[in-house]
Amino acid sequence: SILIVDFGSQVTQLIARRVREAGVYSEIAPFTTAAEAFARMKPKGVILSGSPASVLEQGSPRVPQEIFDSGLPVLGICYGQQVMMHQLGGEVVLGDSGEFGRAFIEIQDSCVLFDGLWHARESHQVWMSHGDKVVRLAPGFRPVATSPGSPYAVIANDERRYYAMQFHPEVVHTPDGARLLANFVRHVCGLSGDWTMAEFRAAKIAEIRQQVGDGKVICGLSGGVDSAVAAVLIHEAIGDQLTCVFVDHGLMRAGEAEQVVTLFREHYHIPLVHVNAEALFLGGLAGVTDPEAKRKFIGKTFIDVFEAEAKKIGGADFLAQGTLYPDVIESVSFTGGPSVTIKSHHNVGGLPARMNMQLVEPLRELFKDEVRALGRELGLPDVFVGRHPFPGPGLAIRIPGEVTKERCDILRKADAIYLEEIRNAGLYDTIWQAFAVLTPVRSVGVMGDGRTYDSVLALRAVTSIDGMTAEAFEFPAGFLPRVSTRIVNEVRGVNRVTYDYTSKPPGTIEWE
Ligand code: XMP
Repeated sequence: SILIVDFGSQVTQLIARRVREAGVYSEIAPFTTAAEAFARMKPKGVILSGSPASVLEQGSPRVPQEIFDSGLPVLGICYGQQVMMHQLGGEVVLGDSGEFGRAFIEIQDSCVLFDGLWHARESHQVWMSHGDKVVRLAPGFRPVATSPGSPYAVIANDERRYYAMQFHPEVVHTPDGARLLANFVRHVCGLSGDWTMAEFRAAKIAEIRQQVGDGKVICGLSGGVDSAVAAVLIHEAIGDQLTCVFVDHGLMRAGEAEQVVTLFREHYHIPLVHVNAEALFLGGLAGVTDPEAKRKFIGKTFIDVFEAEAKKIGGADFLAQGTLYPDVIESVSFTGGPSVTIKSHHNVGGLPARMNMQLVEPLRELFKDEVRALGRELGLPDVFVGRHPFPGPGLAIRIPGEVTKERCDILRKADAIYLEEIRNAGLYDTIWQAFAVLTPVRSVGVMGDGRTYDSVLALRAVTSIDGMTAEAFEFPAGFLPRVSTRIVNEVRGVNRVTYDYTSKPPGTIEWE
């Protein structure tokens, strides 16, 4: 495996993804706990991330000395390069200009990182983002590439197997970056690149059996992909020691609750308690219009219903959750200070503390796309595994104003037409998330010879890597008019359709 030491760069997660894409297991540890992670993981190599910090600042992060003492290969990226030079006897100075964005580097010499990829005297595009720069190399290093702003764009010490670069190979704006990282993990660290989902599945099953013994496990299904994949994997490990509870709040997309129930009961024969709590949720939402009040009510009620069901089945020793890696990576913060709550997210995160149970979280090392790959490996249907993300509070936060059964049904119909058209156009998988919002605005229209006064529907589709930032998706000409016509013709209660072009930031993906 590879240990990635995180110094707080915005893109550290991408390093982990690129390494895993090269078929090598990797984990990220913040620099503060990197020494422990290094001892526990016994990696075959270490990658040092970038950082907003400067090695010249008092108290800025350092590489634990154990890593340099181990004799293992190390790759430094951006700050990672600077901190390596600083600690190994080179010199870093405050940059007066810096390089930000696209840059071109000149290859000076051959280097194992460039194997099968780059040759001397060629020029290649990379992505830079740095102010400080290295001005003197530590002993044993040689420059192998330069750029106008950094004489030491890539440096190498072949004897110690230390390599470093000023640019970011992990971002897509460095087109050959993934292959540079693959060369490091395979050719320098000697890892074979055979980490696969099949292997992960087998290892996790053994681990779950060991953890659970003959205990009972309960799993809350949200109807989404993560909890479903976790449940199917756990069931494969321990069979009917697992019971799933699906709290159906009646705020799912068209047909999705039924799909989950059929999949679990008929396809996998996994014991499933399906709690139809639509009346309870809609009853509690009556008259509620404030977005945070909706979110809080739904989150709390979900937990209440789940707890009551857990009692009915006689409790359990373990609680299973579909927690993903991005939720568990401890973030490295340099700003201190409390961050503002934009939205209170609903997931089952509040449960463990309250129920005082041990957790089984078999997906906690995986990224979303890896969970999808594992789902496919476990035989979950593609249409299920590839679903767009769906928020815990469901359609309630896509109906600004009061949520009623009637408005949920209108939205479900319109949303289904929109998604059907997107699938037919072959666009579903290029879009991160697409959905309809039923606005509280009514507008005047004319249908046949009559006047209408009905709701305005908004369509949203965004592209995104992780949901943190997003851009509105540009549909091909003719697509939106076609969807608009179909919705107004087929869905009673909607007489006007608009498209939301707001990016995130400043907007958010969901409307509430
Ligand atoms: P926003 O609207 O904050 O959404 O830009 C970012 C991503 O998170 C999803 N989302 C949620 N997911 N529970 C979830 O599990 C929630 O309460 C929740 N609220 C928003 C949203 O759909 C988007 O993918």
